[in-house]
Amino acid sequence: MEKILFAGSSNFDKMAEKIAKASHIHFGNILIQKFACGEKYIQLLNDVKGKIVYIYQTANENPDEIIMETLLMANAAKENGAKKIILISPLLLYSRQDKKTTKDKREPISAKLLARLYETAGIGKIITCHLHSELILKFYKIPILNLKVYHLFAKELKKIIKKQRDWQVVSPDEGARKDGQKFAQILGGLETAFFKKERESPDKKINMVSSLNFYGNIKGKNVILFDDMVDTGGTIIKAKEKLILMGAKKIILAAVHPVLSGNAKEKLEKANFFKIFFSNSVPINDCSNKLMKNLEIIDLTSEIKKHL
Ligand code: R5P
Repeated sequence: MEKILFAGSSNFDKMAEKIAKASHIHFGNILIQKFACGEKYIQLLNDVKGKIVYIYQTANENPDEIIMETLLMANAAKENGAKKIILISPLLLYSRQDKKTTKDKREPISAKLLARLYETAGIGKIITCHLHSELILKFYKIPILNLKVYHLFAKELKKIIKKQRDWQVVSPDEGARKDGQKFAQILGGLETAFFKKERESPDKKINMVSSLNFYGNIKGKNVILFDDMVDTGGTIIKAKEKLILMGAKKIILAAVHPVLSGNAKEKLEKANFFKIFFSNSVPINDCSNKLMKNLEIIDLTSEIKKHL
Protein backbone atom coordinates (compact mmCIF):
# COMPACT_ATOMS: atom_id res chain seq x y z
CA MET A 1 0.00 0.00 0.00
CA GLU A 2 1.23 3.48 -0.82
CA LYS A 3 2.65 5.48 2.07
CA ILE A 4 3.25 9.18 2.58
CA LEU A 5 4.78 11.11 5.47
CA PHE A 6 3.91 14.68 6.44
CA ALA A 7 5.71 16.71 9.09
CA GLY A 8 4.35 19.40 11.37
CA SER A 9 6.20 22.51 12.41
CA SER A 10 8.06 20.85 15.30
CA ASN A 11 10.29 19.23 12.67
CA PHE A 12 12.88 21.98 12.44
CA ASP A 13 15.85 19.59 12.39
CA LYS A 14 14.37 17.79 9.36
CA MET A 15 14.21 14.48 11.22
CA ALA A 16 11.00 13.61 9.33
CA GLU A 17 12.75 13.93 5.96
CA LYS A 18 15.52 11.64 7.26
CA ILE A 19 13.00 9.03 8.38
CA ALA A 20 11.11 9.24 5.08
CA LYS A 21 14.31 8.90 3.06
CA ALA A 22 15.60 5.96 5.11
CA SER A 23 12.24 4.19 4.79
CA HIS A 24 11.67 5.02 1.11
CA ILE A 25 8.42 6.78 1.95
CA HIS A 26 7.31 9.79 -0.05
CA PHE A 27 7.73 13.02 1.94
CA GLY A 28 4.59 15.07 1.49
CA ASN A 29 4.14 18.82 1.34
CA ILE A 30 1.94 20.68 3.73
CA LEU A 31 0.72 24.23 4.03
CA ILE A 32 0.56 25.57 7.56
CA GLN A 33 -0.76 29.09 8.00
CA LYS A 34 -2.10 31.17 10.83
CA PHE A 35 -5.19 33.34 10.63
CA ALA A 36 -4.93 36.86 12.05
CA CYS A 37 -6.78 35.69 15.16
CA GLY A 38 -4.12 33.01 15.76
CA GLU A 39 -6.11 29.96 14.60
CA LYS A 40 -4.21 27.48 12.44
CA TYR A 41 -5.00 26.54 8.85
CA ILE A 42 -3.72 23.24 7.43
CA GLN A 43 -3.67 21.85 3.92
CA LEU A 44 -2.06 18.58 2.83
CA LEU A 45 -0.66 19.29 -0.63
CA ASN A 46 -0.43 15.64 -1.79
CA ASP A 47 -3.16 13.11 -2.38
CA VAL A 48 -3.81 10.85 0.61
CA LYS A 49 -6.74 8.78 -0.67
CA GLY A 50 -6.29 5.09 0.11
CA LYS A 51 -2.78 5.68 1.49
CA ILE A 52 -1.09 5.06 4.81
CA VAL A 53 -0.41 8.53 6.11
CA TYR A 54 2.36 9.12 8.64
CA ILE A 55 2.41 12.35 10.60
CA TYR A 56 5.71 13.34 12.22
CA GLN A 57 5.40 15.67 15.15
CA THR A 58 7.38 16.07 18.34
CA ALA A 59 7.83 18.73 21.02
CA ASN A 60 8.86 22.33 20.66
CA GLU A 61 8.41 25.40 22.80
CA ASN A 62 4.71 25.68 21.86
CA PRO A 63 3.29 22.26 22.77
CA ASP A 64 -0.36 23.34 22.65
CA GLU A 65 0.01 24.69 19.12
CA ILE A 66 1.77 21.50 18.07
CA ILE A 67 -1.09 19.41 19.41
CA MET A 68 -3.71 21.44 17.56
CA GLU A 69 -1.67 21.21 14.39
CA THR A 70 -1.36 17.43 14.77
CA LEU A 71 -5.12 17.08 15.22
CA LEU A 72 -5.79 19.19 12.13
CA MET A 73 -3.27 17.24 10.05
CA ALA A 74 -4.83 13.94 11.09
CA ASN A 75 -8.30 15.21 10.41
CA ALA A 76 -7.28 16.49 6.98
CA ALA A 77 -6.01 13.00 6.16
CA LYS A 78 -9.14 11.33 7.56
CA GLU A 79 -11.58 13.64 5.76
CA ASN A 80 -9.77 13.03 2.47
CA GLY A 81 -9.81 9.27 2.42
CA ALA A 82 -6.54 8.14 4.06
CA LYS A 83 -6.58 4.39 4.69
CA LYS A 84 -4.70 4.61 8.00
CA ILE A 85 -3.14 7.49 9.92
CA ILE A 86 -0.08 6.84 12.05
CA LEU A 87 1.39 9.48 14.33
CA ILE A 88 5.16 9.32 14.82
CA SER A 89 5.79 11.35 17.94
CA PRO A 90 9.14 10.44 19.55
CA LEU A 91 8.17 12.56 22.55
CA LEU A 92 4.47 12.30 23.27
CA LEU A 93 3.29 15.63 24.61
CA TYR A 94 1.46 15.79 27.96
CA SER A 95 2.45 12.22 28.78
CA ARG A 96 3.87 13.29 32.15
CA GLN A 97 0.39 14.43 33.21
CA ASP A 98 -0.99 10.92 33.55
CA LYS A 99 -2.85 11.23 36.86
CA LYS A 100 -4.26 13.68 39.36
CA THR A 101 -1.48 14.69 41.72
CA THR A 102 -3.78 15.14 44.72
CA LYS A 103 -7.24 13.95 45.71
CA ASP A 104 -8.63 17.28 46.74
CA LYS A 105 -7.60 19.41 43.76
CA ARG A 106 -9.71 19.75 40.64
CA GLU A 107 -7.08 18.68 38.09
CA PRO A 108 -7.59 17.10 34.65
CA ILE A 109 -6.00 13.85 33.50
CA SER A 110 -4.38 15.53 30.56
CA ALA A 111 -2.71 12.48 29.00
CA LYS A 112 -6.10 10.71 28.95
CA LEU A 113 -7.77 13.66 27.24
CA LEU A 114 -5.03 13.70 24.62
CA ALA A 115 -5.73 10.02 23.86
CA ARG A 116 -9.39 10.82 23.12
CA LEU A 117 -8.44 13.81 20.95
CA TYR A 118 -5.91 11.90 18.84
CA GLU A 119 -8.34 9.03 18.30
CA THR A 120 -11.21 11.37 17.41
CA ALA A 121 -9.04 13.18 14.89
CA GLY A 122 -8.53 9.87 13.07
CA ILE A 123 -5.15 8.65 14.30
CA GLY A 124 -5.11 4.84 14.18
CA LYS A 125 -1.71 4.16 15.73
CA ILE A 126 1.04 6.02 17.57
CA ILE A 127 4.76 5.34 17.46
CA THR A 128 6.55 6.98 20.34
CA CYS A 129 9.71 6.53 22.30
CA HIS A 130 10.50 5.95 25.95
CA LEU A 131 7.23 7.13 27.51
CA HIS A 132 7.59 8.82 30.88
CA SER A 133 5.24 6.20 32.26
CA GLU A 134 3.50 3.25 30.63
CA LEU A 135 0.43 4.11 32.71
CA ILE A 136 -0.89 6.11 29.80
CA LEU A 137 -1.09 3.06 27.54
CA LYS A 138 -4.35 2.15 29.23
CA PHE A 139 -5.94 5.42 28.06
CA TYR A 140 -5.65 4.40 24.41
CA LYS A 141 -7.93 2.17 22.36
CA ILE A 142 -5.54 2.37 19.40
CA PRO A 143 -2.14 0.63 19.44
CA ILE A 144 0.82 2.55 20.81
CA LEU A 145 4.32 1.40 20.06
CA ASN A 146 6.61 2.59 22.85
CA LEU A 147 10.13 2.17 21.52
CA LYS A 148 12.79 1.63 24.16
CA VAL A 149 16.19 2.77 23.05
CA TYR A 150 18.49 1.70 25.88
CA HIS A 151 20.58 -0.34 23.44
CA LEU A 152 21.38 2.72 21.31
CA PHE A 153 22.65 4.57 24.37
CA ALA A 154 24.46 1.50 25.66
CA LYS A 155 26.34 1.09 22.38
CA GLU A 156 27.94 4.52 22.86
CA LEU A 157 28.47 4.24 26.61
CA LYS A 158 30.23 0.89 26.31
CA LYS A 159 32.98 2.73 24.40
CA ILE A 160 33.65 4.79 27.56
CA ILE A 161 33.18 2.19 30.30
CA LYS A 162 36.46 0.36 30.61
CA LYS A 163 36.00 -1.45 33.94
CA GLN A 164 32.39 -2.16 34.86
CA ARG A 165 33.09 -2.15 38.59
CA ASP A 166 34.12 1.53 38.38
CA TRP A 167 30.67 2.63 37.16
CA GLN A 168 27.14 2.86 38.57
CA VAL A 169 23.83 3.82 36.99
CA VAL A 170 21.96 6.33 39.13
CA SER A 171 18.27 7.18 38.64
CA PRO A 172 17.46 10.78 39.59
CA ASP A 173 14.02 9.85 40.91
CA GLU A 174 12.00 6.78 41.86
CA GLY A 175 10.00 6.89 38.63
CA ALA A 176 13.18 6.39 36.64
CA ARG A 177 14.47 3.56 38.86
CA LYS A 178 13.17 0.62 36.84
CA ASP A 179 14.58 2.10 33.66
CA GLY A 180 17.90 2.66 35.40
CA GLN A 181 18.01 -0.98 36.45
CA LYS A 182 17.25 -2.19 32.92
CA PHE A 183 19.87 0.11 31.50
CA ALA A 184 22.45 -1.12 34.03
CA GLN A 185 21.72 -4.70 32.95
CA ILE A 186 22.22 -3.84 29.29
CA LEU A 187 25.52 -2.21 30.21
CA GLY A 188 26.71 -5.56 31.53
CA GLY A 189 25.24 -5.63 35.04
CA LEU A 190 26.41 -2.33 36.56
CA GLU A 191 25.44 -1.49 40.14
CA THR A 192 22.53 0.88 40.60
CA ALA A 193 21.44 3.57 43.04
CA PHE A 194 18.64 6.12 43.06
CA PHE A 195 17.31 9.37 44.43
CA LYS A 196 13.87 10.03 45.90
CA LYS A 197 12.58 13.32 44.62
CA GLU A 198 9.95 15.69 45.99
CA ARG A 199 8.64 18.54 43.91
CA GLU A 200 7.18 21.80 45.15
CA SER A 201 3.40 21.89 44.90
CA PRO A 202 2.38 23.31 41.48
CA ASP A 203 0.39 26.03 43.29
CA LYS A 204 3.71 27.37 44.53
CA LYS A 205 6.47 26.71 42.03
CA ILE A 206 5.74 24.47 39.08
CA ASN A 207 8.75 22.35 37.92
CA MET A 208 10.80 23.09 41.08
CA VAL A 209 12.52 20.23 42.90
CA SER A 210 12.24 20.72 46.66
CA SER A 211 14.23 17.72 47.91
CA LEU A 212 16.39 14.92 46.56
CA ASN A 213 17.53 12.11 48.88
CA PHE A 214 20.06 9.53 47.79
CA TYR A 215 19.86 5.75 48.36
CA GLY A 216 23.10 3.96 47.59
CA ASN A 217 26.84 4.28 47.92
CA ILE A 218 28.69 6.15 45.26
CA LYS A 219 32.04 7.06 46.79
CA GLY A 220 34.90 6.76 44.33
CA LYS A 221 32.66 5.59 41.49
CA ASN A 222 31.90 7.03 38.08
CA VAL A 223 28.20 7.61 37.45
CA ILE A 224 25.79 7.42 34.57
CA LEU A 225 22.75 9.53 35.50
CA PHE A 226 19.94 8.11 33.39
CA ASP A 227 16.51 9.72 32.98
CA ASP A 228 13.71 9.82 30.43
CA MET A 229 13.97 13.57 29.91
CA VAL A 230 15.69 16.75 30.87
CA ASP A 231 13.26 19.66 30.94
CA THR A 232 14.50 22.62 33.00
CA GLY A 233 17.56 20.61 34.06
CA GLY A 234 16.63 21.15 37.74
CA THR A 235 16.47 17.45 38.64
CA ILE A 236 19.63 16.36 36.92
CA ILE A 237 21.79 19.26 38.06
CA LYS A 238 20.71 18.94 41.68
CA ALA A 239 21.44 15.20 41.48
CA LYS A 240 24.89 15.86 40.02
CA GLU A 241 25.76 18.35 42.76
CA LYS A 242 24.79 15.83 45.45
CA LEU A 243 26.76 13.02 43.80
CA ILE A 244 29.90 15.15 43.68
CA LEU A 245 29.51 16.02 47.37
CA MET A 246 29.20 12.30 48.13
CA GLY A 247 32.48 11.52 46.35
CA ALA A 248 31.44 10.49 42.82
CA LYS A 249 34.12 10.94 40.15
CA LYS A 250 33.15 11.30 36.46
CA ILE A 251 29.45 11.93 35.86
CA ILE A 252 27.81 11.22 32.52
CA LEU A 253 24.27 12.38 31.77
CA ALA A 254 22.20 10.11 29.51
CA ALA A 255 18.60 11.10 28.84
CA VAL A 256 16.29 10.25 25.99
CA HIS A 257 14.32 13.48 25.50
CA PRO A 258 16.15 16.82 25.50
CA VAL A 259 13.21 19.12 26.18
CA LEU A 260 15.62 21.78 27.49
CA SER A 261 13.18 24.52 28.43
CA GLY A 262 14.24 28.06 29.26
CA ASN A 263 17.95 28.34 30.04
CA ALA A 264 18.47 24.60 30.55
CA LYS A 265 21.27 24.51 27.97
CA GLU A 266 23.26 27.20 29.76
CA LYS A 267 22.69 25.40 33.07
CA LEU A 268 23.94 22.13 31.60
CA GLU A 269 27.00 23.80 30.21
CA LYS A 270 27.86 25.24 33.62
CA ALA A 271 27.26 21.87 35.29
CA ASN A 272 30.18 20.54 33.26
CA PHE A 273 29.22 16.89 32.83
CA PHE A 274 31.99 14.56 31.70
CA LYS A 275 29.73 13.72 28.75
CA ILE A 276 26.07 14.19 27.79
CA PHE A 277 24.05 11.81 25.62
CA PHE A 278 20.63 12.85 24.31
CA SER A 279 18.55 11.33 21.54
CA ASN A 280 17.17 13.44 18.70
CA SER A 281 13.57 12.81 19.82
CA VAL A 282 13.36 16.58 20.26
CA PRO A 283 15.44 18.84 18.03
CA ILE A 284 18.10 20.80 19.87
CA ASN A 285 18.19 24.12 18.09
CA ASP A 286 20.99 26.60 18.58
CA CYS A 287 23.39 24.06 20.01
CA SER A 288 26.49 26.15 19.51
CA ASN A 289 29.75 24.31 20.07
CA LYS A 290 30.53 26.41 23.13
CA LEU A 291 27.30 25.29 24.67
CA MET A 292 27.25 21.67 25.67
CA LYS A 293 30.57 20.82 24.13
CA ASN A 294 30.41 17.33 25.55
CA LEU A 295 27.12 16.51 23.90
CA GLU A 296 26.58 13.46 21.72
CA ILE A 297 23.30 12.88 19.90
CA ILE A 298 21.87 9.38 19.57
CA ASP A 299 20.01 9.14 16.28
CA LEU A 300 16.60 7.41 16.46
CA THR A 301 16.04 7.22 12.69
CA SER A 302 17.04 3.57 12.28
CA GLU A 303 14.91 2.51 15.25
CA ILE A 304 11.80 4.33 13.97
CA LYS A 305 12.39 3.12 10.42
CA LYS A 306 12.13 -0.52 11.54
CA HIS A 307 8.46 0.03 12.42
CA LEU A 308 7.14 1.89 9.34
C1 R5P B 1 10.10 13.48 35.87
O1 R5P B 1 9.77 12.74 36.76
C2 R5P B 1 11.02 13.13 34.73
O2 R5P B 1 11.45 11.82 34.76
C3 R5P B 1 12.20 14.08 34.71
O3 R5P B 1 13.02 13.80 35.83
C4 R5P B 1 11.74 15.49 34.75
O4 R5P B 1 10.75 15.72 33.82
C5 R5P B 1 12.90 16.43 34.54
O5 R5P B 1 12.43 17.72 34.71
P1 R5P B 1 13.43 18.90 35.05
O6 R5P B 1 14.58 18.80 34.09
O7 R5P B 1 12.62 20.15 34.84
O8 R5P B 1 13.84 18.74 36.47
